[in-house]
Amino acid sequence: MSYIPSKKSEILKNIFYPCSQMKDYESQFLLEIIRAEGPYLYLKSGQKIIDGIASWWCKSLGHQHPRLKQALKDQLEKFEHVIMANTTHENLIELSQRLGSLCPDRYPDLNKVFYASDGSCAVEIALKLSLHSRKIMGEPKKTGVIALSNGYHGETVGALSVSDLGRFKKPYQDFLFHTHMIQNLPYVLDPQDPVWSNCESYWETIIPALEKLKDQTTAIIFEPIVQGSAGMKIISADFFTRLNQFAKTHGIHLIADEIMTGLGRTGKLLACEYANIQPDFVCLSKSLTAGFLPMSAVIMTNQIYEIFYDHDSSHNAESAEKSFLHSHTYSGNALAVSVALENLKIIQEENICLRAQNLQIKMRESFKNISDQTGCFNNIRGIGGIIAADLNLKNNQTLGPDFFNRAIQSGILLRPLGKTLYWFPPLNISDEALGEMEQATLALLIAESAPSQKDLMTRLIVNLLLD
Ligand SMILES: Cc1ncc(COP(=O)(O)O)c(C=O)c1O
Repeated sequence: MSYIPSKKSEILKNIFYPCSQMKDYESQFLLEIIRAEGPYLYLKSGQKIIDGIASWWCKSLGHQHPRLKQALKDQLEKFEHVIMANTTHENLIELSQRLGSLCPDRYPDLNKVFYASDGSCAVEIALKLSLHSRKIMGEPKKTGVIALSNGYHGETVGALSVSDLGRFKKPYQDFLFHTHMIQNLPYVLDPQDPVWSNCESYWETIIPALEKLKDQTTAIIFEPIVQGSAGMKIISADFFTRLNQFAKTHGIHLIADEIMTGLGRTGKLLACEYANIQPDFVCLSKSLTAGFLPMSAVIMTNQIYEIFYDHDSSHNAESAEKSFLHSHTYSGNALAVSVALENLKIIQEENICLRAQNLQIKMRESFKNISDQTGCFNNIRGIGGIIAADLNLKNNQTLGPDFFNRAIQSGILLRPLGKTLYWFPPLNISDEALGEMEQATLALLIAESAPSQKDLMTRLIVNLLLD
């Protein structure tokens, strides 16, 4: 099997890959993609593999979705990008109306949308809006942010400051602002766990620190229900209900980072719905364009928007201070907007949330089968279109480049998070493709859990000695 090794050094000569140790590419396959369709990636080597992680969690409807492609082509025929400030167009208006009424019964106030280009920027925008609103409202003491231990919110300086995963954060510590991290979170494996609906014993240990910070906190930021980068860790819904209550009581903003969870992934349009969290800001990205084009959005309440609105028409120094002078060149990019709009229509028409719920049942069965046959899985957990388990490999091998290579040879693209192996397929994946994921993962783990040559030799020698 060839993965262009002879040309690899040439190909890598001018590239610095994201979230990678470049030396790993000396031994790790570099997959040359020639086509992608649905859940499949087609490689130049002739191999067809399954994209088991939806290309970093964004390909919610798979690759090359025909309706999304058509929407993109249609927009391309009209115009591709025009400055958003001072302009508008039909798709932008409709997309904003749809995003501004995502869950109208539950969240009637979440109706103003600010566009950006990626998830980290959406997080920055929500943090800046929260802090800025305090300045306008004359609440100068409210400058702090509370976040969750093990949380991840992106790579820019503000997003890293409110994240808690040391491997991403440590080298930049000197640039970052202090954030209080809530410890001792009530993790569960699924909503059947009693702690999902009652986490009182945990909350008693959490609340004293929060009480001390309540007057100096502007916002609490969190990944609702599932912490993705931490290893698909699921948190009790009751914890969020209590956190919501605490924030509302003390006038603290809630920033729901739904960049990974939003738009159906957990089986609800917003994961916030599981705990009836009433966020002031919701950050969306990844599946907003179903992985077609970079785009993010911050949906905020009308109350927040009103703080920035200068009802006095005379343009004076005070109105400048009220203006949110944050911009990204590609905000409201017309191509991304056209795809996002079509995506929202598909999510509604094809009841993607229900499909995610059904997917959970099937993926859980698959993980149980794999676990029964290999003994490699601990702590199987999941919700909606996410399933994960901690790997318990008999040879205690690392999950580095070799594991990646062996997964590709088994027919599946996986990128474990620490010791956690997870599936995050397109939400419209067919049963057949899901079966292929199971077979590929089984093949991989059976090979992984087979005794090594060294073990076999040792066993042989021991047997001979015993004879
Ligand atoms: C919860 C969460 N927030 C923020 C981000 C950052 O998004 P982006 O990579 O688009 O900047 C991610 C990316 O994985 C994420 O999972």
